[in-house]
Amino acid sequence: ESAFKYRLVNTQNLSVRRFPDVLIIGVKKSGTRALLEFIRLHPDVRAAGNEIHFFDRHYSFGLNWYRKKMPPTMLGQLTMEKTPSYFITTGVPARVHKMNPNIKLLLVVRNPVTRAISDYTQAFSKKKDMKKFEELSFVNGSYQLVDTSYGAIKIGVYAKYLERWLKFFPLKQFLFISGERLISDPAAEIYRVQDFLNLKRVITEKHFYFNSTKGFPCLLKSESRSTPHCLGKTKGRIHPVIDEKAIERLNDFYRPFNEKFYQMTFINFGWS
Ligand code: A3P
Repeated sequence: ESAFKYRLVNTQNLSVRRFPDVLIIGVKKSGTRALLEFIRLHPDVRAAGNEIHFFDRHYSFGLNWYRKKMPPTMLGQLTMEKTPSYFITTGVPARVHKMNPNIKLLLVVRNPVTRAISDYTQAFSKKKDMKKFEELSFVNGSYQLVDTSYGAIKIGVYAKYLERWLKFFPLKQFLFISGERLISDPAAEIYRVQDFLNLKRVITEKHFYFNSTKGFPCLLKSESRSTPHCLGKTKGRIHPVIDEKAIERLNDFYRPFNEKFYQMTFINFGWS
């Protein structure tokens, strides 16, 4: 009997690295870092801090490599990872499904026009001699033809990528998070996440404050950090001013795809 007891105690308290129960699959520049930093405040969530890129770049390293990248967890804690390129990479849904067909998938989405400008701003910060956003987004220097081969534009056609994922996972395994609401009312959005993951509502309004200098919600002190803190300098960049006419034209371009996405998710994100 004592041997049995010992075994029981031992497996329950043992901290081991496990495969993720939840993935943040994207969308790039929609608030994926904010979502991860907010949800990992929960004591029953443990997350890999950096993007692992297993299912898109490092799949050949094998599942055991992947598991070893995960943080150790106690029984009952959720393991989580975020790599935003998973959403748009062909072949990733099939690979994820093969690992765990019951995995929960979190997708943060944001107005695709703002998302594209955010994507451009990030690229510009690394390479200053870039063309203007308006030049990259349209063919032939007029605002007639949207250049759908430009990555920052292409990623915003969310319906196309979601369609691929829905071939492998039912809608009920997804939670769609509004990037806009994650900024305007982070607690409300994090309640949705906690409910979806069957977690107690531990993260509340009390964890957040609005930092008016940064213009974004930031975190008050928590168990893991003793001081208030915002996300890093690379989150919440100042965007360049974009020609209103170009923005209008891009909104027109995305409208049917947004509508399709609203129909697929049964959520109206209110972008256009
Ligand atoms: P910008 O830097 O263009 O404003 P990701 O983490 O997926 O790369 O998304 C980055 C975006 O997250 C930022 O884009 C910003 O708008 C958004 N964001 C959401 N909540 C934020 C927060 N609390 N602090 C900073 N940025 C936040």
